[in-house]
Amino acid sequence: MGLNTTKIRQDFPLLHNQKKPSVYLDSACMSLKPMPVIEKMNEYYKEYPACAGRSHHRLGKRASEEYDCARVMVKKFINARAEQEIIFTRNATEGFNLVAHSLDYDVVITSDKEHNSNLVPWIVEKQEKGIVHEVISTEQGFDLAQFTALLQKHKNKKILVSIVHTSNMDGTTNPVKEIIKLAHEYDATVMIDGAQSVPHKPIDVKKLDADLLAFSGHKMLGPTGTGVLYGKSEILEKLKTYNVGGDTVDDTFYDKAVFTKIPARFEAGLQDYAGFIGLGAAIEYLSKYIDDIEDHDRELNRIMTDGLKNDIDILGPPDATSRSSILSFNPKNRMDYHEVAMLLDSYANIAIRSGRHCVHSWFNARRIGGSARASVYLYNTVEEAKLFVEKTKEVLKMK
Ligand SMILES: Cc1ncc(COP(=O)(O)O)c(C=O)c1O
Repeated sequence: MGLNTTKIRQDFPLLHNQKKPSVYLDSACMSLKPMPVIEKMNEYYKEYPACAGRSHHRLGKRASEEYDCARVMVKKFINARAEQEIIFTRNATEGFNLVAHSLDYDVVITSDKEHNSNLVPWIVEKQEKGIVHEVISTEQGFDLAQFTALLQKHKNKKILVSIVHTSNMDGTTNPVKEIIKLAHEYDATVMIDGAQSVPHKPIDVKKLDADLLAFSGHKMLGPTGTGVLYGKSEILEKLKTYNVGGDTVDDTFYDKAVFTKIPARFEAGLQDYAGFIGLGAAIEYLSKYIDDIEDHDRELNRIMTDGLKNDIDILGPPDATSRSSILSFNPKNRMDYHEVAMLLDSYANIAIRSGRHCVHSWFNARRIGGSARASVYLYNTVEEAKLFVEKTKEVLKMK
């Protein structure tokens, strides 16, 4: 059907409230927020700014209802079996740390293109507990033969596979359904990093048979400081407690705590109620468009890629349709990636990201300093993609 970007853009204040609106091409880092999300959060602060799940007055009850409703929205969005399978976290990173610390495993298998949030927790666990960390090559696409060999090598151990679905570095997507199926033949548990996939296409955890899935609210039109860890309930039940205190217990004595049910067991202390209620509103909004976003991303990426392919070296496959919403590149004329980003910002009001995108390990292994990265989302237009091409060409001539 295609996205009606003219209509969608009306909902995003940044895109029409300014004299010269920004061309925002950094949604892989942080998405913009539509008015329904901002209004829903304001509503919490104005009308019922109370604790959820604790206070029995009317304000508390309303907060509890709205907070529970947000969890139901998330559950439906990813087609989880039950609300209990949805743990609210501060971000995707917290989900990885929780699992790294609390799951019982001997070996973790990741790819060579993981965000630091799906790498550093394993490095720490390796140093502190001696777990084994294996890394799969994605140079020619995810190496299923190497993966099978590693599963075979460790078949008598408890294996956790933790793999990025869509890379924030170059936009490539790993064949997670195949990975999960193969891993399950060896009784391995699979965690998917959905930070860049959940915002851009329908994800069905039942169809994928994912055991665990971490993603961020702030990349899917939701507020900052919100994230989700989905887990099959039988896996969450087995996780050791992590961050503990208020709300994680049913009872305490001076020498004993009786821990409560999932997911509350993993949500210690007062939560960001406004944030998660806002995330519920983001999901309600996103649900209207989610079926069409991936095609839209690819079309804009194709325009950017075709327009610039003679001027840039692209990270990842040359074909834009294999890189979802992301164009990561270095200029052929060797202009520095930070300089490209700074000039685009100051000269053309175009916001892109530059650096190593929290995938330092990949850049270090290849002795590449970093890259410039443009990333699109449902509110970007064909005109913006063309303007990006035109202005990038002009900026590159400044060298
Ligand atoms: C692929 C990927 N994984 C994980 C993360 C970390 O997400 P968060 O900032 O929500 O912890 C990001 C953020 O950029 C990402 O792109």
